[in-house]
Amino acid sequence: TTVEWEAASYDMGGHDTYMHKEIHEQAEAVDRVLRGRIDDRFSTVHLGGLNLDAREARRIRRVKILGCGTSYHAGMIGAQMIEELARIPADAEPASEFRYRDAVVDPDTLYIAVSQSGETYDVLAAVQELKRKGARVLGIVNVVGSAIAREADGGIYVHAGPEVCVVSTKCFTNTCVAFALLALHLGRTRDLSVRDGKRIIAGLRKLPTQIAEMMKQEEEIEELAKEYAEARSMLFIGRVRGYPVAREASLKLKEVSYIHAEAYPASELKHGPLALIEPALPTVAIVPDDDLLEKNRAALEEIKARSGRILAVAHQEQEKADRTIVVPKNEDELDPILMGIPLQLLAYHTALALGRDIDKPRNLAKSVTVE
Ligand code: G6P
Repeated sequence: TTVEWEAASYDMGGHDTYMHKEIHEQAEAVDRVLRGRIDDRFSTVHLGGLNLDAREARRIRRVKILGCGTSYHAGMIGAQMIEELARIPADAEPASEFRYRDAVVDPDTLYIAVSQSGETYDVLAAVQELKRKGARVLGIVNVVGSAIAREADGGIYVHAGPEVCVVSTKCFTNTCVAFALLALHLGRTRDLSVRDGKRIIAGLRKLPTQIAEMMKQEEEIEELAKEYAEARSMLFIGRVRGYPVAREASLKLKEVSYIHAEAYPASELKHGPLALIEPALPTVAIVPDDDLLEKNRAALEEIKARSGRILAVAHQEQEKADRTIVVPKNEDELDPILMGIPLQLLAYHTALALGRDIDKPRNLAKSVTVE
């Protein structure tokens, strides 16, 4: 059983698919998740629904994030942001795995359930199991009043607006922004300086304009997609901040185009995937301009030396790549939010070139409300 949006009730607004429309709504959507939440006076954010006071926030020893599919990937990005900005050990795990492995539930851990629909059964069941054991669970959810939102002790609504396409785009982006807000908030109740708080806030404010800027590259990406539509398989690589971006981009491509795609940490290439490199297997590399730039460049060289084709998503043209999609630079911690967006367009145009049923990929449902 699945929950279907009443697609007919939402206007496509001149776009040929909801996916296209939703990709293009992201600048506006991000503006909404930020609205009314920034507190310039204390260089922090207000999250009214958290139900977590400063003393409780300071008692958190770990953060565990649970979600499925795209929401799990947003959780991976969120975990990194929380570690970086709040210095609380954090990690993400598929809710479906967590449920079945008889996980140890720890009272000093803050659990966060991520779900666009707020109805995914595996996530809901994980939340219920956690609550039964006395854990504190927050929800990061799009659909207001959904099951997970009701079940959680508090949380953040991502305010992306209705998402109709089965594959998630704007909700992913807004969830990542919601995590940035939470990380900033937790950071500022701990040791994150006013200066860093200001820096992150300035970065957050730049996001909508930078997203709108990126949309101008669509024609170029459409051309690229025609090339990639011929591939039978693609490899996505990234390191640390770039890795969850690679994971999500790979998922997006396989969901809508049905091209096999695999994501790997760039650092692990030498432990296996290098054996696959040949001209017929294109690599998409996430190459942020951060302290790992040189390491990432070395990975591109390794691939080039084995005549692999490379598409880089980077903050500057990459010499070793055949093509580079240049994205606007933000603060290092916020870069993952922007770097996946051109790859949503790549997945979309690849699927379009292949004549796929973009809004309703075969065998998939928007919400999986059963086990
Ligand atoms: C389904 C959808 C995915 C989505 C996942 C989690 O598998 O096809 O696009 O990421 O569910 O959905 P949720 O609503 O919990 O974020």
